[in-house]
Amino acid sequence: MHIQRIQVPNFRVLQNVDITFEKEFMPRIFPLGSENGGGKSTLLQLVFILLHCSAHENRKEYIQNLLEDFDVPEGETTRELAKFEIWDGEKTVELAFSVCNDDFLNDLSKVYNEEFSFVDLAIVSLSKKFEYIKNNQEMVDVDPSMRKRFMAAKRILEYLQNYGLLFITYYSDSLSEYNILVCSTSNHNKKEDSDIESMLLEISSQVHLAAPSSHVYLFFTQKNRQALFVQNAWNEYINQLLKAKEKLPNFFIHNFLLVDALLKTFQYARDKDFKQAIETNNYGNYYINVLKDLSYLLGNKKITPSPELDRIIVKQETPQGEMELGPEDLSHGEIKKLSIYVWLKYIIGENAIVLVDEIENTLHPDWQYQMVDNLKEWGPNNQYILATHSYDVCQALTPAHVKELEPKLLKNNP
Ligand SMILES: Nc1ncnc2c1ncn2[C@@H]1O[C@H](COP(=O)(O)OP(=O)(O)O)[C@@H](O)[C@H]1O
Ligand SMILES: [Mg+2]
Repeated sequence: MHIQRIQVPNFRVLQNVDITFEKEFMPRIFPLGSENGGGKSTLLQLVFILLHCSAHENRKEYIQNLLEDFDVPEGETTRELAKFEIWDGEKTVELAFSVCNDDFLNDLSKVYNEEFSFVDLAIVSLSKKFEYIKNNQEMVDVDPSMRKRFMAAKRILEYLQNYGLLFITYYSDSLSEYNILVCSTSNHNKKEDSDIESMLLEISSQVHLAAPSSHVYLFFTQKNRQALFVQNAWNEYINQLLKAKEKLPNFFIHNFLLVDALLKTFQYARDKDFKQAIETNNYGNYYINVLKDLSYLLGNKKITPSPELDRIIVKQETPQGEMELGPEDLSHGEIKKLSIYVWLKYIIGENAIVLVDEIENTLHPDWQYQMVDNLKEWGPNNQYILATHSYDVCQALTPAHVKELEPKLLKNNP
């Protein structure tokens, strides 16, 4: 899976974004630069939320939060949000996301001589029985008071389908008016909803975002975003992060829950060795190899689990002999390197689209430079888009790998 092109005409700070990521480039690692506030984080979050959440009902609240202020201009009926060209291994799939307001339904209203509104679709989409109309089934057991809404929602869905548009979700900043997000593709002759849905489903499992815990996430509610800046409300923010981690399986927060991830890695290695023992009468080397990798990672420190697999022990060589530490004694940069390693090697699968925000934070320039080699080694079959301010990361690649958002980074040679 590989994102070949991202176009965003106008979303928050992003204006006329049109970036290509060549799938022939080796390695497929693309730093994404801009000045502070240039929109790198905005872009990564928009890409991640659209691609990771559009095919899953329980993730759509994050799209609703992200789009809260995204309105269709006065006098218009639709507004383009983002377009993607994605290589699925065999062909390039084009996905276009846009939003529509009620005026988009004017023609439908004329045909049936009655007013249609996305409010009906929004309300019906919250019902378990929404499946009936999505799958074109008979509407049995629908509450009579809701029947009219169901009929309206059915007609709206058919109308959208005629335009090749898949309904993703409604969103609103007022209770009386709803916009909707739709997705279309130019790939299939038969633009059936099920085609777009299955594409979105496949892509959603392959796209990952890693970002720092202190970030303001645009896909949280406004209230939760503000909590980061309010004393005594940090618990609320942390709870929101934990909830997002649970609901968005491919959302990874640098340094957060590293011990859990390491323990899971050891458990996984133990189970794999044991499985091999059952199958072949010989234990595998998985656990030993994880230990080897981890000791190589941090130089003179060894990382092991406690025998009960409930604690991580760090052993450091000193002139006086071996000293025992806890993971909390590691430096911020060491923790980050470890967490990226565990994430790429043992948590995410192969062939992924990996978006990383602030990859260089807390890392020494040498480690920033080496990170490109690390990514190649730990997850060689992935595409990486790395939001960064680091020249060291960029210099580990060719200038053509480096993508920029306006306003451009200041050049060394003006
Ligand atoms: N609704 C909005 N419309 C336009 N710009 C916005 C809006 N909300 C925030 N911004 C601006 O967007 C920028 C956030 O960009 P961000 O993606 O965090 O940049 P980067 O990660 O490149 O430093 C900030 O400078 C902020 O002022
Ligand atoms: Mg940023």
